[in-house]
Amino acid sequence: MSGTLGSISIRAMNYLDVQPLRREVLRAGMLDQTVNFDGDDDPTTMHLGAFTDAEVNIGVSTWLQRPFPSEPQLRGLQLRGMATAVLVQGHGIGGLLLHAGMEYAAAIGVDLIWANARDSALTFYNRHGFSTVGDGFIETVTQLPHHQVVAYLVQ
Ligand SMILES: CC(C)(COP(=O)(O)OP(=O)(O)OC[C@H]1O[C@@H](n2cnc3c(N)ncnc32)[C@H](O)[C@@H]1OP(=O)(O)O)[C@@H](O)C(=O)NCCC(=O)NCCS
Repeated sequence: MSGTLGSISIRAMNYLDVQPLRREVLRAGMLDQTVNFDGDDDPTTMHLGAFTDAEVNIGVSTWLQRPFPSEPQLRGLQLRGMATAVLVQGHGIGGLLLHAGMEYAAAIGVDLIWANARDSALTFYNRHGFSTVGDGFIETVTQLPHHQVVAYLVQ
């Protein structure tokens, strides 16, 4: 992508390298700043990051091969740790990461992508083809309201 941020590239990252942005964006102001997710170092887990042409990491996302609890018979990919650096939110970086993750999902042949999404990000997910399902809940670490979202891949 090219625009006001210059040229942005999306590529796979090491799981330790996604942690600074996770901490800055997803754990800001929280006492518990733990950003290790179960399955982060699993060989089947993909971490996708967005980088400026100066190699600054401005977005991260993690894609774990995990079934969607409501449809365990289908092959699921769980999206976690979706974060865009605060100063560049709303410029399409999250969309680029979602798009790259969807391409990855299609390449590995999963049936669906799902996430526990913050309610504040539901519009973002819905605009990218995810449906909101089930009742809302308070996520234990962040204490923020969440819903599950799911997008099905057409094979
Ligand atoms: C949610 C989040 C990951 C989205 O990433 P982002 O880079 O801001 O996403 P985008 O810029 O692609 O899209 C966000 C909005 O900007 C708008 N947008 C997209 N491209 C744009 C552009 N070039 N210029 C201006 N606005 C744009 C989109 O319409 C979208 O609006 P919406 O929220 O009403 O759908 C990011 O805002 C974030 O990290 N938020 C805090 C942490 C968080 O909530 N993470 C998700 C946990 S589930």
